[in-house]
Amino acid sequence: MLTSFLNFRSHMIAILLLGMAAIPTASLATIVGSRHDLSANMGSTVPHVNFAYNNYNQVCVYCHTPHDSNKDNGGKLLWNKPFSTATYTLYSSPTAKLTPSQPTGATSSSALCLSCHDGTIAVDTLVNMPNQPFTDTGNHRTMGDGVNACGTCHYDGATGKLGAVRAAFLGTDLSNDHPVGMAYDNTISPGLNPVNSVTAAGLKLYNGKVECASCHDPHSVVNKTFLRVANAQSSMCTACHTK
Ligand code: HEC
Ligand code: HEC
Ligand code: HEC
Ligand code: HEC
Ligand code: HEC
Repeated sequence: MLTSFLNFRSHMIAILLLGMAAIPTASLATIVGSRHDLSANMGSTVPHVNFAYNNYNQVCVYCHTPHDSNKDNGGKLLWNKPFSTATYTLYSSPTAKLTPSQPTGATSSSALCLSCHDGTIAVDTLVNMPNQPFTDTGNHRTMGDGVNACGTCHYDGATGKLGAVRAAFLGTDLSNDHPVGMAYDNTISPGLNPVNSVTAAGLKLYNGKVECASCHDPHSVVNKTFLRVANAQSSMCTACHTK
């Protein structure tokens, strides 16, 4: 009896150790230390905190706050940034059957992303500032151009990485970006797969619409550029498109 208990116990310990060994790998694939971890220089070895924007010494606070979040979207997702007031130039083409809508307003998921990526609001501008200690450096840069912007150093036409970082700045002209804000409907647009093929692939629709977060998970670095699923052989694209 005792022997079998001991055997059972060592078996359990082995399972526990296996489990523990797996944990670090899994936790590395999160937002912490990623391009979306502003407290850790966006994962870069080049220091940006406290000269490009404030270091709030926390990860989530740049986007979410537990209290007094933005009410403009009904408080959803405890969003901690103001929403952009921009009017966007939308994608348009003679072959597209669906109509993208302005990524603004209370129900737009893409408005969350554009509260940094359109370059109209500084990356560290918050609705509810953290109460934990930080230094206000007065450096509040937007992703756009000009003196108080990332574009002071990361500008178009540059060679190498300073230009490459520029790609994260979408601006308010979305006409050359994959459309967002259109209701996914394969009866109107027959080149699309049925909705269940989209969700089965691990992609998401928001109120039935394609949004930035349909393709990207802003917290996950399992795939490059925060893609929800791997895009080898363009398999992410073909989850939606019958190409
Ligand atoms: C760069 C901005 C950003 C940061 C930083 C961020 N999030 Fe999010 N989060 C979002 C956006 C945008 C959404 C909504 C899109 C979606 O469905 O994933 C979201 C959705 C969520 C959701 C609800 C949907 C889901 O996927 O479960 C939770 C919970 C969440 N975030 C928790 C966190 C936590 C915890 C942290 C810090 C460890 C964090 N987030 C950091 C942008 C961010
Ligand atoms: C708090 C501001 C903020 C919000 C909100 C935000 N981002 Fe970002 N995002 C950044 C910063 C800063 C970077 C790093 C700059 C860079 O990669 O050039 C970045 C980088 C990225 C990258 C490039 C990652 C890479 O590996 O090259 C993608 C893709 C991205 N964001 C998508 C999104 C999407 C989609 C959303 C909404 C679901 C979102 N972001 C919301 C600030 C933000
Ligand atoms: C004063 C100049 C300056 C400003 C302002 C600046 N950066 Fe940088 N950034 C740099 C330099 C220099 C590098 C290193 C370039 C390299 O690796 O070749 C860099 C690197 C980066 C990287 C890592 C690139 C990589 O490939 O690893 C990211 C991401 C980044 N910057 C985002 C931003 C964002 C977002 C802002 C605005 C909030 C910003 N930067 C503002 C100078 C600047
Ligand atoms: C239909 C899928 C899809 C949608 C919708 C989408 N993206 Fe992307 N995005 C991608 C893919 C795929 C890449 C990677 C491109 C590559 O590797 O060359 C990417 C790359 C990016 C990058 C990295 C810079 C670049 O150009 O490579 C940023 C930043 C970004 N997306 C932000 C956004 C934002 C913000 C939205 C919403 C306005 C959005 N994305 C909507 C699929 C999408
Ligand atoms: C979540 C589903 C989804 C994913 C993933 C997706 N798309 Fe789309 N895409 C759409 C929808 C919906 C439209 C709008 C179709 C329409 O208006 O008829 C569209 C439109 C387009 C268009 C414009 C079509 C036209 O007639 O003007 C192109 C090109 C395109 N997508 C390419 C891609 C590529 C390349 C990828 C992968 C990087 C991709 N899409 C990933 C859903 C998706």
